[in-house]
Amino acid sequence: MMNSKKGKQFSTICAQSGKLSGAIHPHQTPVYATAAFEFDQLTAGSEAFLSQPGTHVYSRYGNPTVEAVAQTIAQLEGIGCGEEAYAVMTGSGMAAIHVVVQAICRPGDLILTQADLYGGTTELFVKVFQPFGIQLMFSDFADAGEIEEILQKNPTIKMVYLETPTNPMLNCVDIGLVSEIAKKHGVMVVVDNTFNSPYITRPLALGADLVIHSTTKFIHGHGYSTGGAVVGKKKDLILNVIWTFLKLNGSILSPFEAMLIQIGLKTLGIRMQAQSNNAMQLAEYFSSHPKIKAVYYPGLKTHKHYQIAEKQMDCFGAMLSFELDLSLSEIEKLIPKLAIGRIAPSLGETETMIMHPASMSHLRMPLDLKQKYGINEGLIRLSVGLEDIEDQLATWESALQTI
Ligand SMILES: Cc1ncc(COP(=O)(O)O)c(C=O)c1O
Repeated sequence: MMNSKKGKQFSTICAQSGKLSGAIHPHQTPVYATAAFEFDQLTAGSEAFLSQPGTHVYSRYGNPTVEAVAQTIAQLEGIGCGEEAYAVMTGSGMAAIHVVVQAICRPGDLILTQADLYGGTTELFVKVFQPFGIQLMFSDFADAGEIEEILQKNPTIKMVYLETPTNPMLNCVDIGLVSEIAKKHGVMVVVDNTFNSPYITRPLALGADLVIHSTTKFIHGHGYSTGGAVVGKKKDLILNVIWTFLKLNGSILSPFEAMLIQIGLKTLGIRMQAQSNNAMQLAEYFSSHPKIKAVYYPGLKTHKHYQIAEKQMDCFGAMLSFELDLSLSEIEKLIPKLAIGRIAPSLGETETMIMHPASMSHLRMPLDLKQKYGINEGLIRLSVGLEDIEDQLATWESALQTI
């Protein structure tokens, strides 16, 4: 189609569309939905390529909306470190774990980790990294002497990889202690801080080298987005080594997801505090209920790792598990009676989420291991939400009366 007056024709207008000229001053970082960034001159382009990352060339290499989120998470995880922290964002929590192992471990290296890690992480280690010659060793990190001995006897251990609190039993690992021992042996400590978020625990200040997040959970906090982050104090490790692997494997965060995560981050502190307060009250209520066999919440003085939790957690988090003396079919009948709490295999959102580990996350775990780790049919995991605590307590009170 021809333009009637002289000027650009139809497809030229379309192809060059969407660009406003003039100064615009957005109050919030906009979504930079652009694959590439343009340059007036070739020299400016080559200078930008040379000073990567930090300059903007191509969104897989770096995008301002994504970097704004990375900077916020780095600042939060860096609190108490006495030095600056740096972060890169990934397309999921799994991508964050993947890129860290890929960037740091080589065939022949060992990763020392827990048997009760998030199942996806264990599967990644076993199915993806073991075939490349990266092997696993396990510890529950409860005994300093044992950790010391394992590290001494196995000089090929390159990384200690841990989670605290663990899923679903909320076991806690002393990050400071493990980091101190690992440091003596020149071994890097990586902590998945997804369950706590930096509002509750900041592993870098406790001596860890790297922090992993699934931002899908509390950091975004609303359940509309999938993302991950890797944070550390060593600028070269984060913004050169890990960034290089990330830009080459391409598991980057989209700027649209980054915008959602940024919105979530604005209320992270008040959400974490309120959800932790609710979880604490529920844990106390469950502990005193005659129909509940056991409660697993690190804020309870009866929890086996209360002292570790108290030392490294500013409040005790929104994750809570408890055990009823019920079979799977009885649990199946109980859950639909709850006015609050949806069955969903995630956590960290505003609404209470219920997970039944034995029939969901740990379904494939052999029976003897389920028994060993306490994953019984009566065990329920809650990601406690922001619903008013009076409503939450009333929900459980009326449901428990029916059993
Ligand atoms: C502790 C923990 N780490 C990592 C992940 C993986 O995160 P994503 O689902 O964002 O890849 C999960 C997912 O449930 C998790 O619970």
